Amino acid sequence: MTAYNVIEHEFDVVVVGAGGAGLRATLGMAEQGLKTACISKVFPTRSHTVAAQGGISAALGNITEDDWRWHMYDTVKGSDWLGDQDAIEYMCKNAAASVIELERYGVPFSRTPEGKIYQRPFGGMTTEYGEGAAAVRTCAAADRTGHTILHTLYQQSLKHKVNFFIEYFAVDLIMDDEGACRGVVAWDLDSGTMHRFRAQMVVLATGGYGRAYFSATSAHTCTGDGGGMVARAGIPLQDMEFVQFHPTGVYGAGCLITEGARGEGGILRNSEGERFMERYAPSAKDLASRDVVSRSMTMEINEGRGVGPKKDHIYLHLDHLDPDVLAQRLPGISETARIFAGVDVTKAPIPVLPTVHYNMGGIPTNIHCEVLTIAPRAKKPSVVPGLMAIGEAGCISVHGANRLGSNSLLDLVVFGRAAAIHAGKVVKPGKAHKKLAKSVTDDLALGRLDKIRNAKGASHTAAIRDEMQQSMQKYAAVFRTEETLQKGVDSIHKVEASLADLGIQDRGLIWNSDLVEALELENMIPQAKATVESAINRKESRGAHARDDLPERDDKNWMKHTLWTYHPGKAGKIQYRDVHLHTLTDEVKPVPPKARVY
Ligand code: FUM
Repeated sequence: MTAYNVIEHEFDVVVVGAGGAGLRATLGMAEQGLKTACISKVFPTRSHTVAAQGGISAALGNITEDDWRWHMYDTVKGSDWLGDQDAIEYMCKNAAASVIELERYGVPFSRTPEGKIYQRPFGGMTTEYGEGAAAVRTCAAADRTGHTILHTLYQQSLKHKVNFFIEYFAVDLIMDDEGACRGVVAWDLDSGTMHRFRAQMVVLATGGYGRAYFSATSAHTCTGDGGGMVARAGIPLQDMEFVQFHPTGVYGAGCLITEGARGEGGILRNSEGERFMERYAPSAKDLASRDVVSRSMTMEINEGRGVGPKKDHIYLHLDHLDPDVLAQRLPGISETARIFAGVDVTKAPIPVLPTVHYNMGGIPTNIHCEVLTIAPRAKKPSVVPGLMAIGEAGCISVHGANRLGSNSLLDLVVFGRAAAIHAGKVVKPGKAHKKLAKSVTDDLALGRLDKIRNAKGASHTAAIRDEMQQSMQKYAAVFRTEETLQKGVDSIHKVEASLADLGIQDRGLIWNSDLVEALELENMIPQAKATVESAINRKESRGAHARDDLPERDDKNWMKHTLWTYHPGKAGKIQYRDVHLHTLTDEVKPVPPKARVY
């Protein structure tokens, strides 16, 4: 192996990722007086949170009456009773304070005529425990809410003099022989140097792995790098079978058209001009939860009522809305529709198709955001010392089998903040780091990087990646069966095996995108494998996991979280964890399971 000169750093906390969760945690850690570094492979304000459009949920009640308990009810129901109710209670109860805090940090929310934070309806959000009218709960800054939050949190982090390591690619975790995380190894893409970051707490805020699919609303950088590192470290991934398809990705391009468009009155129509959601969700209609809308659209297309020459998509109409509302509330998607679909939204419908948008699964954590593992021979999960996961990278689990729109930005800020509060209790500022043999870091992280850097096989990263993305798109789709999932498992196993024949051309270390893409592919493959293997294992339909051959939810046998552990070259090991059906406090009652209708 090439000898790499490694630059050493010591911090109390290292946050990996500078999206909404990473920046909220980073800022909070600094507020707690912890010496904090934030490592990001992209410039912070280019993180994928910048693309979040429609808003952040919180029962502020600025437009109609609201209650955080109703929000909790909707979230449990949206999760199809796979979400942990203690964590959901924490998130919904802390939502209002977190949004007000964002406002005070400087997020320029849109306003009501009285000057309050503007809110809009979103899918699956109701009042009176599902018995009342649609809730008006999603706080918005036009349709650029993520953009404003990300920029504000970055500015606040700068104010707190956080140490940013920008355009550094995290290669692997530093795990000691007791199973504790002691830091992370990263590669500075600009100077080509290698860095060893020692930390008492590493926080993974690396986002989802949407790019394991061919068509996704996720940025090309959403390659699940934290999930990849965790899988290689032998720590399980949770509920990876649950992949959310957003109903309205632009046909062909995949870019997001916010659910806020339907919140403002947009309507989906089939080739017969019918508002078909009235048949599938008579009460909520176009604002049913995302899994329900995506499945309904797919059924319309499968039954021959799709639009366009190939009858393979659906129209989203906004052309009946007041052009002033479109200009004020939806300027971003009006521009997206013009650029990517050639459509003037005031005059014509937008061609849309369900598109991969969000991973409900991820790195399992407890309510303090501490990562969980299952030790060999142990029956119950235990905490991995020194490691936290938050945001889409983590699975706490507040979204269960299906996330409600606008609960993601909320998850990022509530649990980014919670991680910092907990770290403030368990991390001792300035404590000396445990001595570690160099081989602990060099063998795994640098050995792996060096092997790929010098790989001389015949298969290019792009070809292997394409095979993975096409397989996931085809076999782990909106609807699944044993047969399609088996094809997916076989195909992803082949993709994994083909890594042995990987070859890259650029052997340099400065801005080597060839190597970056190969490392990202190595991060995505275990997660693609976890998705198809966990999906074929789950013999029921629940939330976003819709099996045509097993259409019913089976609470007796399957109300449990899947834990999947990576074994390179072999099938992963599957274990389970109980769903928390209890609440955190007696301020609210648990939501008992029932049929989920909208
Ligand atoms: O449709 C949207 O604006 C997306 C929001 C979300 O995924 O939370």
